[in-house]
Amino acid sequence: MLETTLSQLEASARERIAAAATAAELEAVRVEALGRKGALAGLSKQLGALPPEERARAGKLLNAVKAELEALLASRQAQFEQEALRARLDAEWIDLTLPPPGPRPGSLHPLTQIQTEIEDLFTSLGFAVLDGPEVETEYHNFDALNIPADHPARDAQDTFWLADGNLLRTHTSPVQVRGMERFKPPLRMIAPGRVFRHEEVDASHEHTFYQVEGMMIDREVSIAHLVYFMKLLLACVFRREVTVRLRPGYFPFVEPGFELDIQCLICGGSGCPVCKQGGWVELLGCGLVHPNVLRMSGIDPEEWNGFAFGLGLTRWAMMRYWVDDVRLFQSGDLRFLGQF
Ligand code: DAH
Repeated sequence: MLETTLSQLEASARERIAAAATAAELEAVRVEALGRKGALAGLSKQLGALPPEERARAGKLLNAVKAELEALLASRQAQFEQEALRARLDAEWIDLTLPPPGPRPGSLHPLTQIQTEIEDLFTSLGFAVLDGPEVETEYHNFDALNIPADHPARDAQDTFWLADGNLLRTHTSPVQVRGMERFKPPLRMIAPGRVFRHEEVDASHEHTFYQVEGMMIDREVSIAHLVYFMKLLLACVFRREVTVRLRPGYFPFVEPGFELDIQCLICGGSGCPVCKQGGWVELLGCGLVHPNVLRMSGIDPEEWNGFAFGLGLTRWAMMRYWVDDVRLFQSGDLRFLGQF
């Protein structure tokens, strides 16, 4: 009799445990079946009325049912907890690879970044950073730099001439002249800036690009000084050893003049569009300032001398960032600019 009741109770509790849809429903089953005033508690009270040996058997049975139901409740309870945890994790999950909300943070243009680094280096070495006009006089852009009237650089092919006889500066070298006119030696200056050439645009040529000029006027300045500063400059910008070569180069405003080349950092010297398949890239022109240049700007070449250099910032940026098309810098394409 008690056994039948027990097995009915067990069967119905099992069913209800399996069917419980929420933790609260499950708890209700537990209270009804196993609670202090529950069904099993009620049955165990009846045990006392049984003859002793039946009582022992029925007691065992009752305990077994109790243990079994407890185990079932516990495992169903654990399921509910797991489901709740999973739901919470799903709700709180964050995709860390998604861009953050709100406007994207901006960054400085790669040319600006390199320019700033060069300015920081040279100001730390006692150089002033000078600015000059982008619309220049023929005198400052050519004559005062000892560039003869028939020099090919003056050609309409290279120079944007303006109707009034002025021009868009073809290099930053005229800022040397303006620096010498304005300040007395000793003089240390750099001049970053935008320059213009009447050129066919392709992967390695732009009509508008950036240079950095440098000049140091003092007493007994030597090529060793020049090389020392150029090595500091290269190490600063490229942050590694680069293979360089120094060739004699003709620039009317320096004597002797040099071209400093580095092995192409894009192709490693095997040849690519940036180095025009040659494996070497002209990185800068430099030399000792021509006495005529000093004299024209009112500096006595018997007392003073100096070095000068000019570099193509745009080309340096291509080398440093492995950019193989110069046009990207002025494309305004945020997919490109966002990488820096
Ligand atoms: N102005 C030259 C150019 O645009 C570069 C240059 C060469 C500048 C030699 C210098 C220098 O100051 O000494 O090609």
